[in-house]
Amino acid sequence: MRIVLLGAPGSGKGTQAKLLVEKYGVPQVSTGDLLRAAVAKGSALGKIAKAAMDAGQLVSDEVVLGIIGERLRKRDASRGFILDGFPRNIPQAHALDTMLSQLHKPLDGALLIEVDIDVLMQRLAGRRTCENCGRVYNVFTNPPKLEGRCDRCGGELRHRADDNEETIANRLRVYDAQTRPLIKYYADGDRLRRVDGNGDVKVISRQVIRLIEDLTSGAGKTAAEPAQRSDEAIAKPVASAPKKPAAKKATVKKSPARKAPAKKVLAKKAGAKKTAAKKVVKKKPVAKKAAAAKKKASSRTAAKPKKAPVKRAATKKAPTKKKAAAPKAPARKSAPKKKTASKKRVPSKRAVRQSSPRKPAAKKR
Ligand code: AP5
Repeated sequence: MRIVLLGAPGSGKGTQAKLLVEKYGVPQVSTGDLLRAAVAKGSALGKIAKAAMDAGQLVSDEVVLGIIGERLRKRDASRGFILDGFPRNIPQAHALDTMLSQLHKPLDGALLIEVDIDVLMQRLAGRRTCENCGRVYNVFTNPPKLEGRCDRCGGELRHRADDNEETIANRLRVYDAQTRPLIKYYADGDRLRRVDGNGDVKVISRQVIRLIEDLTSGAGKTAAEPAQRSDEAIAKPVASAPKKPAAKKATVKKSPARKAPAKKVLAKKAGAKKTAAKKVVKKKPVAKKAAAAKKKASSRTAAKPKKAPVKRAATKKAPTKKKAAAPKAPARKSAPKKKTASKKRVPSKRAVRQSSPRKPAAKKR
């Protein structure tokens, strides 16, 4: 389980993270806690971080990424982790995705805890933290049994240095400007789940668990394993999508592609050329109409018999051309029609011969 808890200061990220640790046995990785520990040690890194934290500003990405990289490589994080307060801006989110990708442990997703601003202010103002065990209380909503003492270990409860009114206001501004864009960042990758964080801690916890189960379960895995799943989801459709249309296009193209050369061959070989080729194509859909029109035309026009002999003279080559066109079914249909026309034309010649002496006779008259 690799989850990011998102939310404004005081939204309950730390509180919910601790409950998740109890349930799942994976560590809570809080950059705020890590930075506070560095500050408490007085290390060079702690001194750099302290100034930013006291001002309610973000510690530099360089420092934070160094800390988080080291923490996530520890053995206890190998089974998973709950990130609390990290990432806090887009560059950190990118860095996290890269880091987890290199570790072959992509993020399951992010859970956004949404709380009204008035509630946030009261929670931060009333927060008290055990300096010994880190347990968190609130003087308004979850006070300790003994004032100033931890119920669990008896440690002293402290008010965080940055939980003053001025710094809280800065932290909320920084959240709006730099952290809020992460909501879209994770939502765009379908890696975001939202929970109303205004209610009771336990009620919210149940909802948080349900949403995390969704993110990490099979159904949620579509959103859960962003790096791998999203890449696969993109790759597969992209790879397969063009294949299907290509196949369809190929099948569609094949039929005209076959016909087109056939037309060309017919046009070149046949004496009728283009007209023959066009007839072959056109006769398919309008064969009956064309045939009827030709019959009518041949019977009506007397000029056609005159043209017929011309064709016959040239048709010594034509038969071979007609044979070339013969393999096609449509050509066969057109051939007999022409033959019938030519048969009719034969008697028409005789008629011409017979009629020719009459015409001059008429003229003499
Ligand atoms: P950090 O420690 O992360 O502070 P934060 O993000 O401001 O969040 P908080 O810890 O204040 O609130 P929370 O949401 O955890 O609420 P909690 O559960 O404690 O960061 C501190 C500073 O470190 C930053 O300002 C920055 O300078 C630096 N920093 C940290 N990470 C960084 C990063 N990645 N990059 C750069 N800089 C970074 O609850 C709050 C109170 O409300 C408690 O009293 C609790 O008991 C109470 N409460 C919680 N839930 C409920 C509930 N449902 N009902 C009633 N009370 C509740």
